[in-house]
Amino acid sequence: MTVGRYPNTRMRRNRTDAWTRRLVAENKLSVDDLIWPIFIIEGHNTTTEVASMPGVVRVTLDLVEKHVEEAVKLGIPAIALFPATPMEKKDAEGTEATNANNLICSASRILKKSFPDVGLVGDVALDPYTDHGHDGVIRDGYVANDVTLKILRQQALIQAEAGIDIIAPSDMMDGRVGVIREALDEQGLIHTRIMSYAAKYASAFYAPFREALGSGSSLKGDKKTYQMDPANTDEALREVELDLLEGADMVMVKPGLPYLDIVRRVKDAFGVPTYAYQVSGEYAMLKGACERGWLDWDKVLIETLTGFKRAGCDGILTYGAVDAARLLAKK
Ligand code: PBG
Repeated sequence: MTVGRYPNTRMRRNRTDAWTRRLVAENKLSVDDLIWPIFIIEGHNTTTEVASMPGVVRVTLDLVEKHVEEAVKLGIPAIALFPATPMEKKDAEGTEATNANNLICSASRILKKSFPDVGLVGDVALDPYTDHGHDGVIRDGYVANDVTLKILRQQALIQAEAGIDIIAPSDMMDGRVGVIREALDEQGLIHTRIMSYAAKYASAFYAPFREALGSGSSLKGDKKTYQMDPANTDEALREVELDLLEGADMVMVKPGLPYLDIVRRVKDAFGVPTYAYQVSGEYAMLKGACERGWLDWDKVLIETLTGFKRAGCDGILTYGAVDAARLLAKK
């Protein structure tokens, strides 16, 4: 690096005009970087608000096409589907996860038909379907890895068969990527991609999401025996490496903002398609401050998403995807 000194070098020179600032910009956020997570509920013609995520709603299946229309028009490449399963369909084994007519599969069939060119991301984990709120089934008080794998395998298969393009296992069971890849290939679903939640931390930032799904109040204990300790970074690299070896096409770090150091290390170490999830709590924290007039939503949204790009993300899952796409289209 050539280092000049004041007064020959004035760092402010390149910042003088908007056009130079554009010329020297190192990272650029684009609509191509955005994945929009949406919540689906049972019923008809109903939209319900998520109290801890102002501006975010759950929609019934008959409204799902209309709900994503603007996102599609704006050019958002992919949408991630999350089901808010009614309590009466939850049980200890997460049976509803493998029902080929569950909310995710039904939404996927509808959206694939109406918008064949939009990528659909399907979350694979049992927590939207278990009455105890854990991502796997419980045996002897422990979230049992290998029993859960058998269910996740089936869950991934029915989603892929319903048109989900990217299977996104968010459960943090060991070996799940390999098991899912093998199952997909056996069925000839060789184009179905896997985006693994590779480095997923046991974070307090998921609380609003659990409210959205109704999985929080019933959650027994915490998820520390499968999600990662926020103190660790080397461990994240091992998780990513294992998922890549098992066949992950894309890897994700989650949450986003407090973990951008992990994104940078993953990108530098592996150079693979790397994503991060700006999770519900990050959205809530920004939106909450904006609602009080303390921050400017448009500005902090673009600034934080640009931060993800700077850290090395190829894309970002964010509840602000449509807002961001609108702002980027206006520029
Ligand atoms: C669960 C899952 C979670 C999120 C996505 N998938 C929550 C959890 O692990 O408890 C969180 C997303 C968010 O907070 O926005 N498999």
